[in-house]
Amino acid sequence: MLKLAPSLLAADFKRLEEQVQTVERAGAEYLHLDVMDGAFVPSISFGMPVIQSLRSCTGLVFDVHMMVEEPGRYIQDIKAAGADLICVHQEACIHLDRTVNQIKEAGLKAAVALNPATPVSTLENILPELDMVLIMSVNPGFGGQKFIPYALDKVRRVRAMADERGLETDIQVDGGVTAENAGALIQAGANVLVAGSAVFKGDAAANVRRFLDVFAAWEAKA
Ligand code: DX5
Ligand code: ZN
Repeated sequence: MLKLAPSLLAADFKRLEEQVQTVERAGAEYLHLDVMDGAFVPSISFGMPVIQSLRSCTGLVFDVHMMVEEPGRYIQDIKAAGADLICVHQEACIHLDRTVNQIKEAGLKAAVALNPATPVSTLENILPELDMVLIMSVNPGFGGQKFIPYALDKVRRVRAMADERGLETDIQVDGGVTAENAGALIQAGANVLVAGSAVFKGDAAANVRRFLDVFAAWEAKA
């Protein structure tokens, strides 16, 4: 099942409620929430209070991408703010297995993100525990960056790893995703696409529909 996860980072922060409801009405299923700590990544974005205040105005699945050192410290707080899924970076967790289990024990879906230079082989042991893998197709920290083409090959390799093990792991791609490269990402095995600029810059409802048209064309072919 193909899903679009608009990234709030690219929205107009003066009118978040309206923007979130626009993408929901247009047919997006996830809302991708980028939490940045200024340590794991250079920038600082938003945290629990923003997530919590948006929770009451939408039924979208809250997909919280933690670009934070040792995110295990915040799982209960992020859950209380309204997360459905928490994604942590492999590079930010010394005890990744413990952190993933904390997320699952909290009753949330667990995902692990890999920076562009981190090989997918690092997931060999943890893959069966994960609901989703996030392949970063930019170096995390900012919206509006250019897609790194070798991410496509990483998606293919994670899909093959999951298939070999009989797993139906969701594979998400984040960074520089557009309606133009969506088809190639789906073909490589991705099924959850994050898009910030490509959704919120311009007419957000029309932009969501462009992605959904690509999804529909793909599903009709499959
Ligand atoms: C980048 C964030 C992304 C960002 C994507 O570090 O993880 O979610 O919002 O933005 P675009 O789609 O503009 O590359
Ligand atoms: Zn993100």
